[in-house]
Amino acid sequence: MILGIGIDMVKIDKFRGAIKKWGSSFVERIFNPEEVKGISQGKMYYQRLAARFAAKEAVIKAISKSIPLSFRDIIILNRTNGAPYCSFKKDTKADLILSITHIEDYAVACAVAQKVQKKGLPK
Ligand SMILES: CC(C)(COP(=O)(O)OP(=O)(O)OC[C@H]1O[C@@H](n2cnc3c(N)ncnc32)[C@H](O)[C@@H]1OP(=O)(O)O)[C@@H](O)C(=O)NCCC(=O)NCCS
Repeated sequence: MILGIGIDMVKIDKFRGAIKKWGSSFVERIFNPEEVKGISQGKMYYQRLAARFAAKEAVIKAISKSIPLSFRDIIILNRTNGAPYCSFKKDTKADLILSITHIEDYAVACAVAQKVQKKGLPK
């Protein structure tokens, strides 16, 4: 059963500007080290990072704001075939389907939540 859906779009230029302005503290506030480690410092660096930011926003929308999560509670990684997936820190468990796309100007992500559970909340 689908419990929620979320979508988000990020403008790469704006995102790149924020990283250049605030530096590593901005990146570290949003991403976990393992997420950044998987992205090589090439021409796609800002696109792929922006896409992961969009993915986190999409996940928050999909599982609803009733479960408070910070950006770093959400971990976006890739399977060996390249497909993105999401896991969580803390005690949140969710079945989520995630899709990401990015071009030079924009990154977009969509998340579908099928099952969400957090300790202390009714199932
Ligand atoms: C995977 C594929 C769909 C990506 O599409 P794309 O237009 O190149 O790139 P997009 O920006 O739309 O998507 C990239 C994102 O797709 C996701 N992705 C990669 N492999 C994936 C897979 N197997 N399943 C689902 N999503 C995948 C990733 O999240 C990737 O972004 P990331 O690497 O930053 O995490 C594409 O490379 C592909 O394999 N297509 C199959 C068809 C094909 O081979 N066509 C070529 C002959 S015409």
